[in-house]
This record gives sequence, C-alpha cells and structure tokens, in this order.
Amino acid sequence: MRVYAISLEKGGTGKSSVAVNLAVAFQQRGQRVLLIDLDAQGHASRWLGVNPRATQPDESILGVIRGRPLGEGAIATAEGVAVIPAHPEMAGLPVALASAPNNGLFALRSAVAQMEKRGALFDIVVCDLPPARSPILATALAAATRCVAPVQAEDLVLHALADLSESVSYAQQVNPELPDVSVLRNRYAPRSAVDMVYDEELRTRYRSQLLQTIIPLRAAIRESAGFQQSVFRYPGADAGEVRSLFRQLADELLALDGGRS
Ligand SMILES: Nc1ncnc2c1ncn2[C@@H]1O[C@H](COP(=O)(O)OP(=O)(O)OP(=O)(O)O)[C@@H](O)[C@H]1O
Ligand SMILES: [Mg+2]
Repeated sequence: MRVYAISLEKGGTGKSSVAVNLAVAFQQRGQRVLLIDLDAQGHASRWLGVNPRATQPDESILGVIRGRPLGEGAIATAEGVAVIPAHPEMAGLPVALASAPNNGLFALRSAVAQMEKRGALFDIVVCDLPPARSPILATALAAATRCVAPVQAEDLVLHALADLSESVSYAQQVNPELPDVSVLRNRYAPRSAVDMVYDEELRTRYRSQLLQTIIPLRAAIRESAGFQQSVFRYPGADAGEVRSLFRQLADELLALDGGRS
C-alpha cells in the first residue's frame, strides 16, 4: 500500500487542493483511496462534502491514535474516495500523540501495517497535512511511502521546503524507505525576474526531486472547492485541463512507485 503525505510548513501552497484532486485522480485510475484529513481546519473534509462538526472525534485520526482500526468507519463520498475527516477536537492532537506510545510516532505506520495484515481495504492513502511542523507531520512521515510538497517560486516557500526536507531526513531514520521529498509545482506562474530566480533555484536545488507535472493557476481549482466537488465533477470552464493534469500527476506517481496506471 502506498501512503502519500502532502505537506509543506508554509500555508496556502495548495496542499488540500492537491490532496483532494490527486486522491480522486488515483480513484479514477482504479485505485481504492482513503484520504486522511490531518489538518484541524478540515478543508479537505469539507471539500469532499464532509462537515467535521457533524462527525465524532473518534472518526478522525484521534480514533486511530486511540487504536481504532484504520479505515473502519471511513466516510464514503460522492467522489468515490473514502475519508477519515478532521474534527475540531484535533486541536488537542499534540496532546493525544504525546500520551500514545513513542509519542504517537508510529501510530499511523502501525495502523497501516495492521490494515495490510487484515487484507487491505485500500491501495492508496493520501494524507493532507496542516501548514506547521507539528507532531502529526512526524507521525505521517513515519508512515509515508512518499512526501509531496506543493510549491510556488517564492522565497518563503523555498525556506519551508528546506525545513520539510529536514523533517523528511529525520523521518528516514525510522522509515528508511521514504524517498526525499517530491516537489510539485502548483499554482505555478513565475513571471517577474525575482520569480525566475526562485524558479531557477528550485530547478537546481531540487533537480531530481521535481515532479514533471506542473499544475498552473486555474480558477477551476479554487471554484470547485466552493461547490464541494473535485475538479473531476466540477463543470467549470478550465476544469477539463486541470483534470488531465491531475491524471498525469497520478500516473507519474504510480509509475515512480511501481503501481498500476
Ligand atoms: N493551481 C491552483 N490554481 C488556482 N487556485 C489554487 C490552485 N491551488 C490552490 N489554489 C487555491 O489556493 C488557496 C489555497 O489552497 P489550499 O487550501 O489547497 O492550500 P493549503 O496549502 O492546503 O493551505 P493551508 O496551508 O491553509 O492548509 C485555495 O483557495 C485554493 O483553492
Ligand atoms: Mg490545507
């Protein structure tokens, strides 16, 4: 089973947008997909039509940390992916992790392993992370088979990417199979001379880690969230182009990770 952690410590770079649309793209490629919303803001849950306030705390990752089998009670959505939603009580996630064995570092990793042992219900898990270096990031990276960082060509984003690379190298000590972070250019439109400098820096510093697929700035991504639809259901003008880019991204990742496409 593959576990993708969509992460960056900088806010608003497109983590939730990528997590939701990539999850649906994987599903459209015949994969059984579980999306775990690890951000108490609950954007990915809402995007998929699940209101975190209408769920119980134990339906979220809090339940998994307390020993609930992964995937049990996951909420089916109209998009065809199942969701472990966020819950407002996830504000207490650092405390919940701190009181779990090993500070909860292996909570998700062992839940995934147990699900595989029982006969996996899912082929792919996609985790949407909050924009912070929180303990849940370490927990997600300990379980991940790949970390994907959505980026723009900006100074603060490059700093956040360097910080995430450091978190990934810590995680590699307990999860040696985890490759270096994959860098996804999202909302990508370097125009000014300054943008070009950061774009060049990204290309040189992260050359082998840059994903080929680039997601440009497109209204369909922003608008579809408001309709609680992925771009695969949203009928907006440029949705078709964005759909094929997310399919291409899913295929690129499946090829990198040796999966069916
Ligand atoms: N390629 C894109 N084109 C246009 N709008 C985009 C694109 N990617 C993301 N957005 C928009 O940018 C905003 C931030 O995106 P998103 O919520 O996915 O970022 P995030 O990294 O999850 O944010 P946070 O750090 O708060 O969790 C949203 O309004 C989203 O719809
Ligand atoms: Mg988000």
